[in-house]
Amino acid sequence: MAHLLSTSCPLNISSSPKNGPNSLKQSLASLPTSLTLRTSFEPFRSLSIHRKNPQRLFSVCATTLQQAETKTGSGSDQSSGEQSRPTRVMVIGGDGYCGWATSLHLSNKNYEVAIVDNLVRRHFDDQLGLDSLTPIASIHDRIRRWRSLTEKDINLYIGDVCDFEFLSEAFTSFKPDAVVHFGEQRSAPYSMIDRSRAVYTQQNNVLGTLNVLFAIKEYGEDCHLVKLGTMGEYGTPNIDIEEGYITITHNGRTDTLPYPKQASSFYHLSKVHDSNNIAFTCKAWGIRATDLNQGVVYGVRTDETAMHEELYNRFDYDGIFGTALNRFCVQAAVGHPLTVYGKGGQTRGYLDIRDTVQCVELAIANPAKRGEFRVFNQFTEQFSVNQLASLVTKAGEKLGIEVQTTSVPNPRVEAEEHYYNAKHTKLIELGLQPHLLSDSLLDSLLNVAVQFKDRVDIKQIMPSVSWRKIGAKPKTVSA
Ligand SMILES: NC(=O)c1ccc[n+]([C@@H]2O[C@H](COP(=O)([O-])OP(=O)(O)OC[C@H]3O[C@@H](n4cnc5c(N)ncnc54)[C@H](O)[C@@H]3O)[C@@H](O)[C@H]2O)c1
Repeated sequence: MAHLLSTSCPLNISSSPKNGPNSLKQSLASLPTSLTLRTSFEPFRSLSIHRKNPQRLFSVCATTLQQAETKTGSGSDQSSGEQSRPTRVMVIGGDGYCGWATSLHLSNKNYEVAIVDNLVRRHFDDQLGLDSLTPIASIHDRIRRWRSLTEKDINLYIGDVCDFEFLSEAFTSFKPDAVVHFGEQRSAPYSMIDRSRAVYTQQNNVLGTLNVLFAIKEYGEDCHLVKLGTMGEYGTPNIDIEEGYITITHNGRTDTLPYPKQASSFYHLSKVHDSNNIAFTCKAWGIRATDLNQGVVYGVRTDETAMHEELYNRFDYDGIFGTALNRFCVQAAVGHPLTVYGKGGQTRGYLDIRDTVQCVELAIANPAKRGEFRVFNQFTEQFSVNQLASLVTKAGEKLGIEVQTTSVPNPRVEAEEHYYNAKHTKLIELGLQPHLLSDSLLDSLLNVAVQFKDRVDIKQIMPSVSWRKIGAKPKTVSA
C-alpha cells in the first residue's frame, strides 16, 4: 500500500492483510476494466471507477443482476385494490454488516431489494490491514448464492452515493418505495485517526445523505427514507434521553424541540449533521423520513445469513471497527484479557443484529407521513462496559474458558461514570420482539468467536486511535 510508515504511529497496520485483498479483488473482478484502485491520503478517492468522464472521482457503474419475478408476501403493497406488487427497497450500504443482514431479511420477506454499495468498507480493511473474523464472500458470490438457495434476486448497483449521477441512475432504474441508508463510514475511531479520515467521514456521510435527499425529491418524492443514525448523537446527558424530541418549558412558554445533541467524535457529529439536513428537508420539501438512532449492534447470525457459509456476515473485532461486545467475545475466545477502556462505567444501548433487521422492516412497513421527521431509538437493552465484561466472563465459564479483564487507558474523550436512561418504546409499540443478550450471548457470539478463533489477529485488538492525539498529518501505515 502506498501509505507511508511512521514508526511513532500507534496504528497497528500491516501491508498484507490476511484475506482482505482477495475478497476485494473477487468483489471487483466483475467490474469494468477501467477500474482504478489507488491508495491516497484522501480515503474517499481510493476507489474510483472511470467510465463516462475520466476526470470524475466517483463511479458510475450499475451492475444490475437479473430481475426477480414479482412475488407477494409481507413485502407486498396490499393497500390498493389493484394487484399487489412487492415494496421496492433500496438498501444503501447493503454489503456492510447491518446492510447485508437487512437485505437478506427483506428479500426473504418478499420485498424487492436493490443493494447500492461502493464496497469501500472492504477497502478500509485492505487499507488498514484488518479483516472480519468470519470469512466473507464477495458481494457477487453472496447474491448468486442467495438466488441459488431461495430463487430470489437482489439487484446490485456498485457505486458511490456521493456521485449524484450514479445515484440518479440507480434511483431512476430501480424506482424505490423506500430507501434504507446504511451507506456511511461508521467507525468513530476511524474518523479520529487523522485529519484526512475526519474530513472523509463527514464528506462521505453528510454529502452522501444530502444526495439521497435530493434524489428522493427529484425522482420519488413519496419514497420513505429510513436513515441509520446513532444513539451516540445524544451523548450522555444527566437527564433521560427521549426519542428524538423533548418538550421544554422556558420562561413560561412551552415547545417540543429536537433533543439536544452532544456527539463525541467526528463520526458521531456527521450523524448529527445528517439528522439536521433530513429534518430540514422534511419541513421544506415534505420528505418522509425515519431516523433510527441505533445502539451498538452485536452478533453475527440471522436466519438468512446462517443458511450458507457464502452468506456469512462480517464480524469486526479490531480496535477500529470492532464493537465492544463482539470484541470482548473474541478476546475471551483467544484467551486475551477483556480490554475495558478506563473505568468501564460507560453505558450505552445495545441490540442484536436480528433486531436491527426487524426494526428496519417495521419502519418500512409503517412509513412516516409526508413531511414527518420521525425518530426512533433503536436498541433493546442498556449495559455499562463493566457489565458486558462480567456477562462475557460468566458465559466463558459455561464453556470452560477462564476470562480475565484488564483496564486500559481510555483512548476516547468520554464520561466513564455517568447517568444513562434512554427511552426506546416506539419500535416496541410497532411490534419489535427483542432478542435479549442473556439468551444469545453464547449461541450468537461466543460460540462463533470460538469457531473462528484461528483467524484472530491479536495485533488488531488493542485500541490504536487516540481522540487527543489526532493531528493534521496523515497517520501512516506500517507493515
Ligand atoms: N454497527 C453498529 O453497531 C452501528 C451502530 C449504530 C449505528 N450504525 C449505523 O448503521 C449503518 C451501517 O453500519 P454497519 O456497521 O453496517 O457499517 P458497515 O461499514 O459494515 O457498512 C456500511 C456500508 O456502506 C458502504 N458505504 C459507505 N460509504 C458509501 C458510499 N459513499 N456509497 C455507497 N456505499 C457506501 C460500505 O462499503 C459498507 O458496505 C451506519 O450508518 C452506521 O453508522 C451502526
